[in-house]
Amino acid sequence: MVQDDWEIFKQQLFAKSSIDLNQYKPAQMQRRITNLMNRHGVATFTAFFKLLEKDAKLYKDFIDYLTINVTEFFRTPEKFVELEDKVIPELLKRSPYLNIWSAGCSTGAEPYSLAMILLDRAPSARHRILATDLDIEMLAKAKQGVYTAGELKNIPPARIAKYFAAKGDSRAVKDEVKALVEFQRHNLLLDRFETGFDLILCRNVVIYFTEEAKDALYRRFFTALKPGGVFFVGGTEAILNFRDIGFQHYLPFFYRKPL
Ligand SMILES: C[S@@+](CC[C@H](N)C(=O)[O-])C[C@H]1O[C@@H](n2cnc3c(N)ncnc32)[C@H](O)[C@@H]1O
Repeated sequence: MVQDDWEIFKQQLFAKSSIDLNQYKPAQMQRRITNLMNRHGVATFTAFFKLLEKDAKLYKDFIDYLTINVTEFFRTPEKFVELEDKVIPELLKRSPYLNIWSAGCSTGAEPYSLAMILLDRAPSARHRILATDLDIEMLAKAKQGVYTAGELKNIPPARIAKYFAAKGDSRAVKDEVKALVEFQRHNLLLDRFETGFDLILCRNVVIYFTEEAKDALYRRFFTALKPGGVFFVGGTEAILNFRDIGFQHYLPFFYRKPL
């Protein structure tokens, strides 16, 4: 009965949102959703779905809660130092204009961090950073590019002065930074992938995905990279079977597709 309730809920949610909970770890997902149901005094998943259908605000909060949008500029700063000082300069030796994908970009801190690095290292309007996320609310905030001082805490003052303009109490990303970034809604578990990337970042996105979903996703990223392209993952997301997928180890948390 409990199992049926969960199965029906997954189907209903997929029909409404295109989010496929079959590809997320069931124990963690059920626990997270049950926590939320308890807060609303609902005992079954299907009763919770009825509530989601009725209450647009709750539905939005639920999607936010499932997708967990926490992000930071230059997240794990020491890894971004390696990215800036070693990975990007090596990629630039092979191709002067980089095609980069920030997959699961949340409110835009990650793609804008990349854009600032490119503008400092190799200024050109011809780089392209594709920044995608499942969550349209996050993409709307990302496109605005307005952040509080607290959100900019990892960025040195000189870079803030160069790439942000004051906007009330907040800071707005300048147009030259925005010009490099193209935002699109994209579901990593469902939608087709572009190919031809020099660098792909998928950081802190796959935490709740099943091992099978993660493996399939990493294989699709491998295909999406150019030969010599680099895949950069989150600070706790080392890929154990990287060789099996075809990657070479490059630096901790960076993998390379052979030339
Ligand atoms: C924790 S944030 C990570 C943001 C950024 N990559 C970072 O490391 O700071 C995870 C993002 O992944 C997105 N996400 C979750 N599942 C996704 C999916 N199936 N397809 C695309 N984006 C997804 C969420 O909406 C969220 O914005």
